[in-house]
Amino acid sequence: MKVPVLSYGAGTFGGGNEFFRAWGTTGVEEASRLIDICLDAGVNLIDTADVYSNGLSEEITGKAIAGKRQRLLLSTKATFRFGEGPNNVGSSRYHLIEQLEGSLRRLGTDYVDIYHMHGFDASTPVEETLYTLDGFVRSGKVRYIAASNFSGWHLMKSLAVSERYGWARYVGHQVYYSLAGRDYEWELMPLALDQKVGALVWSPLAWGRLTGKIRRGQPLPEVSRLHKTAENGPQPPQEYLYKVVDAIDEVAKETGKSVPQIALNWLLQRPTVSTLIMGARNEEQLRQNLDAAGWKLTGEQVARLDAASKVARPYPYWHQAQFTERTPLPVAEG
Ligand SMILES: NC(=O)c1ccc[n+]([C@@H]2O[C@H](COP(=O)([O-])OP(=O)(O)OC[C@H]3O[C@@H](n4cnc5c(N)ncnc54)[C@H](OP(=O)(O)O)[C@@H]3O)[C@@H](O)[C@H]2O)c1
Repeated sequence: MKVPVLSYGAGTFGGGNEFFRAWGTTGVEEASRLIDICLDAGVNLIDTADVYSNGLSEEITGKAIAGKRQRLLLSTKATFRFGEGPNNVGSSRYHLIEQLEGSLRRLGTDYVDIYHMHGFDASTPVEETLYTLDGFVRSGKVRYIAASNFSGWHLMKSLAVSERYGWARYVGHQVYYSLAGRDYEWELMPLALDQKVGALVWSPLAWGRLTGKIRRGQPLPEVSRLHKTAENGPQPPQEYLYKVVDAIDEVAKETGKSVPQIALNWLLQRPTVSTLIMGARNEEQLRQNLDAAGWKLTGEQVARLDAASKVARPYPYWHQAQFTERTPLPVAEG
């Protein structure tokens, strides 16, 4: 299945609690309009999750796509806690069946195109999770399965189990990756290359930081989800973030593109990246981000951005970087 290079994240739909209200409060009418804008631009993949605003994001997505389902690919997720009680969490057969049925109902559809395990559940046997997911695929309720936020060994063990039993395998990995957070490159990118698992990149603007509104000596704008959410996502060190933004600013001036467009275009050129899940709380942000595709930063500009965002590798990656003759790095370090 082909996915568009840019897709749209519905985390901003609903605003059902304080955390998600800071992301956005997009309702059905606005969501429907934003999705139409996406469709006009060829962006036909919408990503949501059961836990986004406690199901409200899925509900709004479902209403907003009424009559458009066949033109769209829908991605959602399960695993994280969805309510009280010992069984309302995880990737057990019990919880996944409950959650898939709930997601289908809220989305108003009878199938999900990409079903993600939102995180790894170390308390449920991997066999139980994958057997259940294989059943979903065979029933037609799920088209493809994907992981999210897995460690290398979580994903590799899961792929090995799928292969051992001939079950559906994870074809995608929804990962955090941005110009201000390149940890994905150390373990997960080489794994994705080797195992042919496509990356669906979440928070490509570093959790709403590479927006042009955050730079040295400038206070956070009044409207920014970071006032309420900064501690819940990736937290690049301040000085490092400023250094990366300085480099993006320089390239933005040269190209006439905006900071988010540069940050997104850099990601589009990275190996294994299948799609960037854009966040946009309104039409203006969305239209700007849609223009991040269809052109290319030069190799020299990419190299400068690589250099500005380079960080020291943890072990064993610094050691492996000394033996690239047989273990080549997937991308230049800068
Ligand atoms: N699998 C996971 O664990 C996981 C985790 C997080 C997200 N996701 C998915 O990834 C999607 C995107 O995540 P994200 O929202 O964190 O992405 P992001 O691209 O890092 O941040 C988007 C935010 O940046 C600001 N922004 C975006 N475009 C802008 C522009 N052109 N100009 C100025 N500001 C702009 C907006 O926030 P402000 O208006 O507040 O500045 C917007 O909400 C989510 O909706 C969800 O589907 C998945």
